[in-house]
Amino acid sequence: MTVPIPQDQSLNESAQNIEIPEPINAPALPIDHEASVTPIAASEVKVTEAVLGLTGRPLPTFSAPQPITSHGPAYIIAMTNQKGGVGKTTTTINLGAALAEAGRKVLMVDMDPQGSLSIGLGVNPDDLGGKRTVYDMLMDSSAVPASDVVMKTSVPGLDLLPANIQLSAAELRLAGEVAREYALDRAFESVRPLYDYILIDCQPSLGLLTVNALTAADGVVIPMECEFFALRGVEMLRETISKVQERLNNRLTIDGVLPTMVDARTLHTRETIQAVLDAFGEAVFHTTISRTVKFPETTKAGVSIIEQAPNSSGAQNYRNLAWELVSRLETQGAVAK
Ligand SMILES: Nc1ncnc2c1ncn2[C@@H]1O[C@H](COP(=O)(O)OP(=O)(O)OP(=O)(O)O)[C@@H](O)[C@H]1O
Ligand SMILES: [Mg+2]
Repeated sequence: MTVPIPQDQSLNESAQNIEIPEPINAPALPIDHEASVTPIAASEVKVTEAVLGLTGRPLPTFSAPQPITSHGPAYIIAMTNQKGGVGKTTTTINLGAALAEAGRKVLMVDMDPQGSLSIGLGVNPDDLGGKRTVYDMLMDSSAVPASDVVMKTSVPGLDLLPANIQLSAAELRLAGEVAREYALDRAFESVRPLYDYILIDCQPSLGLLTVNALTAADGVVIPMECEFFALRGVEMLRETISKVQERLNNRLTIDGVLPTMVDARTLHTRETIQAVLDAFGEAVFHTTISRTVKFPETTKAGVSIIEQAPNSSGAQNYRNLAWELVSRLETQGAVAK
């Protein structure tokens, strides 16, 4: 028996009805909703240091992860939020670049038919004709293993599985397959031993491509734009994560919620962060990402901000995120120290 996941079409026109096998009583996610949150004092946001303290909690200092001498198996993260334009692709690129800078081997996976991740890394999706893409890999990973699709980027240790509009056909074609939710998971078998992190850039929808990403992943990072409707649709996202945990992938966890496009000067941003904290508690990263025009500029340039403006606040934000994430995962024993 199958249960349809309700979709709010107003959130995204490309949202599709995807069914996940076996009915369940979706349990609450293991998130500490009761975590006490210190209200942000107005005086706190007047000084620039308070940007990183915006989540209102004592701010730990994160340092660069220790170098590692051997690589793999990869910890797999799905960058997910069915809301469009919240910073999923920007986070995938720059978190990937920051992890690579810290000596980790990283594979980034474009699971969005818009091909934004590929574009953001300087690959023109329209020029991929004749080259293997994520679509071919999903359709038959024994004929087209991920290693045949991998492209190098300009950053050593940072590789890409590119995609283009053809990927939109995968959703339809996979729909009739047996174990259709596991296509990406199967495809990762051959590359997982080679990387330390695999970052999957999801499309703004909770359709079958995103369910494939959640099924293949160890954890989810949820970027949230700090604006009025930030939490709209979050319950639906939680339900989907919860259903995937129950039915398809019991190792899936929420690695963190990331406030993006933060403007520390506005009351609105601070109120939104408070609401996100109330909803997600300690799952919210201490690191927040400031709003800066540098991000659209680097997207156009097809490089990460870590490469283009390594000393900018945006680069430092994503470096700090990478350090916080590694520290979280090492503390949990999810990745080796
Ligand atoms: N911190 C930021 N400050 C300013 N602009 C940003 C920031 N992060 C992302 N942007 C810009 O916002 C736009 C949307 O970002 P991005 O493409 O990363 O979102 P997305 O969630 O991947 O979108 P989609 O849902 O369409 O895939 C892009 O133009 C990007 O350059
Ligand atoms: Mg995107």
